[in-house]
Amino acid sequence: MRLILLGPPGAGKGTQASKIVKKYNIPHISTGDIFRKNIKEGTELGKKAKEYMDKGFLVPDEVVVAIVKDRLMKDDCKEGFLLDGFPRTVAQADALDTELSNLNVSLDKVLNISVSKENLIERAVGRRVCKECGETYHVKFNPPKKDNICDACGGELHQRKDDTEETVTKRIEVYLEQTKPLIDYYSEKGILVDINGEQDIDAVFSDIVSVLGSGE
Ligand code: AP5
Ligand code: ZN
Repeated sequence: MRLILLGPPGAGKGTQASKIVKKYNIPHISTGDIFRKNIKEGTELGKKAKEYMDKGFLVPDEVVVAIVKDRLMKDDCKEGFLLDGFPRTVAQADALDTELSNLNVSLDKVLNISVSKENLIERAVGRRVCKECGETYHVKFNPPKKDNICDACGGELHQRKDDTEETVTKRIEVYLEQTKPLIDYYSEKGILVDINGEQDIDAVFSDIVSVLGSGE
């Protein structure tokens, strides 16, 4: 299965992605996670990406496209993949089309998770992420069992640097301007499915499963 998760910052893409890849056994390709890993490791790519991410801007298309192209060539992507946070501009979507047609494959579905602006800000600002394993929590909607400690690995939780109200607001503006046009782009191809992201995490997932099928 070849999928894209589309949606504004804080809509719940990462949360749903980790459930989807477990159920359907496909690799999770999150460009945001790739950049954060590089920032943590202090690589040149990380240094470059950080300048944009901290301000809520997009990393330049050519940088992101090169990374995704590379990733899609790996063996584990042969049977399918889930792209989370990519593409984010029409230029990225065009580049992806070209790459997929070179590989002789096509996308099955684009899941578009929608959530109101107010809720997006509350979700992003209340998000806490495990420093060790990357598991995502929310202070109100998905709290860990012990304060500030990851249920999965016991690691310490922290707040992402780009999750301040100011930066989230900027990221939403960037989304509206540069990423939202992809809704029409994929609607016209007949593969876009709208998912109501305003429900609780399990209800959103169950809607996704009814679109994708049981995976049996
Ligand atoms: P990226 O990491 O992709 O961030 P994003 O798209 O802004 O999305 P988020 O990770 O903020 O949110 P999410 O939708 O995954 O929500 P989550 O599941 O965590 O990108 C970061 C930056 O990297 C970009 O700003 C850009 O600079 C750069 N970048 C990345 N890709 C790029 C690209 N292709 N091109 C250029 N630049 C790129 O959920 C949020 C919170 O809500 C959590 O706390 C969660 O527990 C909670 N929650 C989730 N679902 C629910 C629910 N149903 N009800 C209540 N709470 C919920
Ligand atoms: Zn953890």
